[in-house]
This record gives sequence, structure tokens and C-alpha cells, in this order.
Amino acid sequence: MDQTDAKRIAARSALAHLPEQGVIGLGSGSTARLFVEGVSELVRAGRHLIGVPTSMESRDLAEVLGIPLLTEAGPWPIEVNVDGADEVSPELDLIKGGGGCHTREKVVNEAARMNVVIVDETKIVAALGEKFPIPVEVLAFGHHNTAAALARFGRVELRRIGGQPFRTDTGGLIYDVQTGPIEDPRSLDGNIRAIPGVVETGLFLGRADLVLVAGSGGVRELRRK
Ligand code: A5P
Repeated sequence: MDQTDAKRIAARSALAHLPEQGVIGLGSGSTARLFVEGVSELVRAGRHLIGVPTSMESRDLAEVLGIPLLTEAGPWPIEVNVDGADEVSPELDLIKGGGGCHTREKVVNEAARMNVVIVDETKIVAALGEKFPIPVEVLAFGHHNTAAALARFGRVELRRIGGQPFRTDTGGLIYDVQTGPIEDPRSLDGNIRAIPGVVETGLFLGRADLVLVAGSGGVRELRRK
């Protein structure tokens, strides 16, 4: 099974955790995209599901696929939010933001009664930071100073696309902070968030209720204790 097949299996398995009807969060990234496609099939079959997209990309996809959406301002009575992740620790803490959408993703995550995370097994790590840097969204204003403060925690790199600084949906910049395996994610998250100019980190701590991990042995369900 290749990684895309595993992502598809994880995405499809999340459909069984959706309410019969109601408001659901639509994550971002390649795995969440496969989930959104599955949701559109349910909607076409008559299920009354209304989406809250976590990015412009998810919004555009959901609109094309005919999924009804709530407005950006909220309030959103989200029953279940389904999103991908870049890393998942044994405590079900996550790194997200490989696509640069983690600020909106965290706002939607916070609004949801239940958060389901869909990943292939390559995303499972012993400690956060093992493979993936922490994406940190910052204000463009004074961002070189913010980057200097972030450098206390690891090597920092301004994310670029086509040679130009990557801009988030909300106009911010992303610094990827290469920490290596993180001993105490909560204290690190607090320290990074305390830097003026930091908008949001890609550390999602205690934010996953259920993680669906797809691999060659099928789908494993990991639940937060
Ligand atoms: C988007 O900003 C991210 O948080 C994604 O959810 C995460 O990067 C996982 O993406 P893939 O499903 O594409 O691996």
C-alpha cells in the first residue's frame, strides 16, 4: 500500500464518525482533501452536513463539490472536526501546519466538540519534532526580530514558495523551527507563544480526541485517555 492509499483509507474511515446531520469541520492538506471528497458523496446522497472549512483551499474544494458551508465569522456549532497532521506523538499531541493553515485549523479545532485526526502511519513518532519542524505563523511586521527570538528554540527558516515568502490565508508569514525531538512540548509552546509577533504555533496539544491511523494492517483507532 502506498502513502496515498493509506491517506485515502484513513480519510474514508473518518466518515463513520460523522453525525447523521449537523455542522462539521473540514480540515486542510492532502489527507483532509480526500475526506472532503467523501463528505461530498454523503451530501449528494442526501445527508444534511454543513461544513466549516479550515483554509481557503478547503473552502474552494467544498464549494466546487457542493458542500453547504457556514460563513467565516461563526459562530459554528461544530459536532466533529476532521483534519490531518504532520506528526502524532504517543500522547496524541500533534504537529500541524505543513500546509501553512494551522492558525485557522486551531480555531476550528477549538470550536469542535470532537476532533478526529486522520493520518497514515508514517506520521507516528516517539516524540514531536523528531521528523518535522514546528510551523510558527508570525506577523509580517518586524518578522526578522520575531525570527531572532524564535532562534532560541532551534534553526529557523522562513517558508518560501516560488522564491517568495509564503503568505498564509490571513496574511501572515511562516517560520519553520527545527527543534529536534521535543522533551516538554507544553513549555516550548508557551515560550514560543509568549514572543510578541507570534500568531500561532503548529503544536496541537491535547487537541485530538481520536486518531485514525491507516497502514498495511488496516486502520487503528487511538483515543485520548
Ligand atoms: C495543513 O496546514 C496541515 O496542518 C495538514 O493538516 C498537515 O500538514 C497534514 O497534511 P497532509 O495530509 O497533506 O500530510
